[in-house]
Amino acid sequence: MGYPYPPDEKETVVLSQYFGDEGARSYQGWVKRGGYQALEAALAMEPGAVTDVVKASGLRGRGGAGFPTGLKWSFMPKDSGKDHYLVCNADESEPGTFKDREIMRWTPHGLIEGCAIAAYAIGAECCYVYIRGEFTEPLAIMAKAVAEAYANGVLGEKLLGTGPRLEMIIHRGAGAYICGEETGLMNSLEGRRGNPRIKPPFPAQAGVFGLPTTVNNVETLAAVPHIINRGADWYQGICLGNEKSTGTKLYSVCGHVQKPGNYELAMGTPLEELIFDMAGGMPPGRTLKAVIPGGSSVPIMDAEDVKGCLLDYEGVVERGSMLGSGGVIVMDDSTDMVYQIYRLTRFYAHESCAQCTQCREGTAWTVKILERILGGHGKESDLDLLLDLADNMTGTTICVLSDSCAAPVVSGIAKFRSEFDAYLSGARPPALAAH
Ligand SMILES: Cc1cc2nc3c(=O)[nH]c(=O)nc-3n(C[C@H](O)[C@H](O)[C@H](O)COP(=O)(O)O)c2cc1C
Repeated sequence: MGYPYPPDEKETVVLSQYFGDEGARSYQGWVKRGGYQALEAALAMEPGAVTDVVKASGLRGRGGAGFPTGLKWSFMPKDSGKDHYLVCNADESEPGTFKDREIMRWTPHGLIEGCAIAAYAIGAECCYVYIRGEFTEPLAIMAKAVAEAYANGVLGEKLLGTGPRLEMIIHRGAGAYICGEETGLMNSLEGRRGNPRIKPPFPAQAGVFGLPTTVNNVETLAAVPHIINRGADWYQGICLGNEKSTGTKLYSVCGHVQKPGNYELAMGTPLEELIFDMAGGMPPGRTLKAVIPGGSSVPIMDAEDVKGCLLDYEGVVERGSMLGSGGVIVMDDSTDMVYQIYRLTRFYAHESCAQCTQCREGTAWTVKILERILGGHGKESDLDLLLDLADNMTGTTICVLSDSCAAPVVSGIAKFRSEFDAYLSGARPPALAAH
């Protein structure tokens, strides 16, 4: 499971190689482990050639959407004459996801190096690292590492003493899930309320302060030095499933497993291997009931969907869900699915920025109807009402928070309808006091 235990033999350890190794945190320790060689190699290339290597590697964004990273970088204007920005998205508020904070805790200089290479490739002289406010320890570790990088001539007027200027600013978020959405994040960075912005314009055209911006997730950026060091072919070769999904991915496994934690796997590894072999499977006497494979924002899979599912972008979509951020939430047969879906929807209702009517009203009404069902006062028509609401909440808003609330409701009713029916018929006693 990476750390504090030795990695499982089925893991493909790249990003997590130094998890648990305190010596890797300092500038000197990072350099001893081969750190900043990739930045040096990148600076010897043309910026466009760096982007081409990342494109050829097949790296896709690890923040949730899986957008090709090199392609995203290539959207940045070439001769705009404007300042460019790189934003490292370290908000990581997605329930069930706890990998980015570990990258920052153990290998802060690896992340700084990835940011520096990306900034060079897109022509940015300023990089913001937007860190979730609650991450006190990762924040302190990153702040110390950035100070060390300045003191040792990595950052500042000349990258590594030879390259262009790069300033790096750690920005502490104020604890809202919506600030992980890239345009909400940009508003928050600018000191505004973290409401998502309508696209277009896309960040590459008008991002932070209205200037061309690339936003990438921590895990995405941390993979970049490895790709530069070992080559696009090496990274592309880490692929056990669909060739459109390459490299390694960190999965945060939580819920009803015996060995929860972060596991780093080659793309295309079977989901069952992760849950049963590496994470130790269910507690004794229990069987698998459901999995949410990509953080809480994706459709729920049942035990049948999990059988034979390959963990990559295409493999999980084939089973009706999405790889998302790689937060794998495992539920055994003791789980009350209606109650769990209610808990998830309460999260989204609480975190809605309330800008869009479908989200503000839809998330709140979804919670109210589920409370009615769980309180023993549900009506036969409530499931159709929930599905109708979910339909109105999907694909209709500025960002996809609303879709994320609808996903567990729709997939939950499709796969676990009998549990809803049990509350509606009174066969199951109320789980909540009547609302
Ligand atoms: C409601 C919401 C919350 C999000 N939270 C995060 C987050 O905490 N971290 C993250 O990297 N991406 C998050 N994203 C995705 C970002 O908008 C964006 O796609 C990502 O940072 C791009 O980086 P990548 O291409 O490297 O994945 C969120 C998206 C939505 C809709």
